[in-house]
Amino acid sequence: MSDKFKVLDEKIAEAQLGGGQKRIDSQHAKGKLTARERVHFLLDEGSFEEIGMMVTHRSTNFGLDKTKFLGDGVITGYGTVHGRLVYVFSQDFTVMGGSLAEAHAQKICRVMDLAMQNGAPVIGLNDSGGARIQEGVVSLGGYADIFYRNVRASGVIPQLSAIMGPCAGGAVYSPALTDFIMMVEGSSYMFVTGPNVVKTVTHEEVSSEELGGASTHASKSGVTHFSCANEIACIENIKALLSYMPQNCEEEAPSVAYTAGNEVRAQLDKVIPENPNTPYDIKDVISELVDEGSFLEVHKDFAENIVVGFGRMAGKSIGIVANQPAFLAGVLDIHSSNKGARFVRFCDAFNIPLLVLEDVPGFLPGTDQEWNGIISNGAKLLYAFSEATVPRITVITRKAYGGAYDVMNSKHIGADMNFAWPSAEIAVMGAKGAAEIIFKKEIKEAENPQEKWKEKEAEYAELFANPYNAAARGYVDEVIKPHQTREKLIKSFKMLENKVDNLPRKKHGNIPL
Ligand code: HXC
Repeated sequence: MSDKFKVLDEKIAEAQLGGGQKRIDSQHAKGKLTARERVHFLLDEGSFEEIGMMVTHRSTNFGLDKTKFLGDGVITGYGTVHGRLVYVFSQDFTVMGGSLAEAHAQKICRVMDLAMQNGAPVIGLNDSGGARIQEGVVSLGGYADIFYRNVRASGVIPQLSAIMGPCAGGAVYSPALTDFIMMVEGSSYMFVTGPNVVKTVTHEEVSSEELGGASTHASKSGVTHFSCANEIACIENIKALLSYMPQNCEEEAPSVAYTAGNEVRAQLDKVIPENPNTPYDIKDVISELVDEGSFLEVHKDFAENIVVGFGRMAGKSIGIVANQPAFLAGVLDIHSSNKGARFVRFCDAFNIPLLVLEDVPGFLPGTDQEWNGIISNGAKLLYAFSEATVPRITVITRKAYGGAYDVMNSKHIGADMNFAWPSAEIAVMGAKGAAEIIFKKEIKEAENPQEKWKEKEAEYAELFANPYNAAARGYVDEVIKPHQTREKLIKSFKMLENKVDNLPRKKHGNIPL
């Protein structure tokens, strides 16, 4: 028997060595962890159980019959993060560049199937050159098998993707179908075609970093939700993110113990500037409203005119969507509408209540926005809020102008509670523009048109630049002083804790994509 144990031990050692010590050293030399080290840092100590350690590829083309790697370039299994079950796959770049083929794909599909059947998140640690070129269509089929499962699992279990090396071709589309992507700065890239192909086809010269590095995808394309300084920061971010979400769509997110204290936030009374056109940072409001230090911003560097992220309110997980007056005056445009809509849909799919902070002058005008589809993109945010059945609360801090008033979780589209601060201005547009349109003739014919315009602007402002017309109709439930807001939110979310709301029976809706 001891001989048989010896064989087993040797096989395990071989599998743990991936593509060999030399290649592991070269991975370390690039400042990268190995696939196994990543799993080690991600999961609770001693919790990892590996599945399919000895699986190998079956292809014999291009000399593949001569070298076999146990595990076929991906480590798969399950374990726990902060005591909660997760399924994980971690691609091993030391084995044929982490490329994906038949057996590699089957191992990933296996953990995805287990995750679906058992209702727990899947975490993918991606480091792959894409479809394994030597295995041809089998590799493409393997990718499609994964894509299909990504889509089936969407909205059922959370799916998180970390990009920890160069990910090309098919290796980017599976992450793109998951809920959140995080990239490591300086060592991870995502592109459908790399710089060489780009040069051949378009004659453009571009570096990997510029084409598909973390900062490009965090700020320009919005493909990644997080850009992390290094691999450990990336892994810690996955753990933090998981703490805000439930295991699956049937469950609630875990809550953190909270003892009620003084919920008055006097600082908030000083946030809104005297001049309604002066910017302020909505993140100062968010940090006062949520439990101390609990705000985890998502998509921080993309479409900064809207802020989205997770936080806790009296220990319970919430999603926050807030216009940012400090960036483009908080206007809604194509990118911010998409960013907001995607976040709202994630929260709704996973039973995470929504808090909306509104200070929005409207949609961004101009040919660039119109020609690129602000109509259908803005409609996505409107659709996402209207469709959401989780508890939803809005606080109007200042401007709620035009269509943006409707879109930003108004009572009309299903918000449960709507509060306004005394500084709220709820109108079709700003007083200056409104006066110019509706008093055009009077202003033109006046002896002093500028003075008349000012007079009419003041008249309009007096009537509409406040929250009281909306409150009189019940569109606003209560006008509150800023310092009371946290207390009101805690009570309202508690009151809405058992909310049940169902969409009409349908196969699925048709969001304007
Ligand atoms: C097989 C691959 C591979 C692949 C890399 N390798 N990509 N083997 N299939 N797709 C191997 C290399 O041959 C090399 O093996 C080892 O992995 C490391 O690769 P290097 O090129 O030395 O590393 P690096 O310089 O860091 O460059 C990494 C890379 C580059 C950027 C990923 O290798 C690359 O561009 N690979 C090809 C990317 C690609 O075009 N993939 C196919 C996409 S098509 P040795 O033995 O020499 O160490 C696709 C279709 C799916 O994915 C579509 C679904 C929608």
